[in-house]
Amino acid sequence: MENTLKLEELLMEGMMPTEVIGGKKWKILHGDTLKYVKAFKPGVFDAVITDPPYASGGTKQNERNRTTNQKYSSMKSVNALPDFDGDNKDQRSWTHWMAEWLYDVRKACKPGAPICLFIDWRQYPSITDALQWAGWIWRGTAVWDKGNSRPQKGRFRQQAEYIVWGSNGPMPVNRPVSCLPGVFRYGNPQNRIHVTEKPLQLMKDVIQICEPGGRILDPFAGAGTTILAAVEEGYEAVGIEVTDAYFKLGTDRVQFALEAWENEQKENQKKESEKE
Ligand SMILES: C[S@@+](CC[C@H](N)C(=O)[O-])C[C@H]1O[C@@H](n2cnc3c(N)ncnc32)[C@H](O)[C@@H]1O
Repeated sequence: MENTLKLEELLMEGMMPTEVIGGKKWKILHGDTLKYVKAFKPGVFDAVITDPPYASGGTKQNERNRTTNQKYSSMKSVNALPDFDGDNKDQRSWTHWMAEWLYDVRKACKPGAPICLFIDWRQYPSITDALQWAGWIWRGTAVWDKGNSRPQKGRFRQQAEYIVWGSNGPMPVNRPVSCLPGVFRYGNPQNRIHVTEKPLQLMKDVIQICEPGGRILDPFAGAGTTILAAVEEGYEAVGIEVTDAYFKLGTDRVQFALEAWENEQKENQKKESEKE
């Protein structure tokens, strides 16, 4: 019989969240990552793949204090997507906060577990500090080339974001994971439901750093892109999301998308068996 992800086996006693939605291979917890990363038992995750709030969008604090729509979206206000929490910290408090959850999440990971963190150029120096401060080994940086971006006269285009990656201590080379690329080329998703949603195929490519069938944690689940990608690629996934609107949008999206995907899988299997 197929295993089912049981949250009570991953969390310490008395730490079950008041709100959690999920299916056989995934769960998303509604709440603050700072609280829940401390609540997991040691060594229950095989990888952390996440896209934290960058607290970026400007080099001055008044620019960073704008809403996430003002900072990261060019949509007209009538079509604006919900804003999300946790994106207004200044440089020092963001780095401190990153180091704190990164420290706690490391204990919830197996030895050698990989971690991937999305970030932009402005926060790149701070995130690499926070990662190492929290005890992870920083192993490199992959590039998400978004292709299209605003041209800037006399300057380089800012057309990339970065995937800072590392591991929880030594990372054996004989893990059953193939050679992965260092650059991923995907445009921003069309019809997105989250202000800073990542392309689904990008996440499917990035999670391949985890051993096949492993359990992935995304502590900043947003629209659930990592969770959806993970389940469709044969992993288990746990997400955490604090913003009410995105907890609802993300869990609905993952549920509907996985239902459609499972039906498609069944149809394909039926067609295959009819051919035989
Ligand atoms: C950059 S977005 C992630 C987007 C996601 N990768 C996607 O494709 O939809 C970061 C998310 O983290 C959430 N967040 C911010 N602070 C949080 C916290 N302390 N605990 C849990 N989630 C948090 C925000 O609400 C936001 O949805």
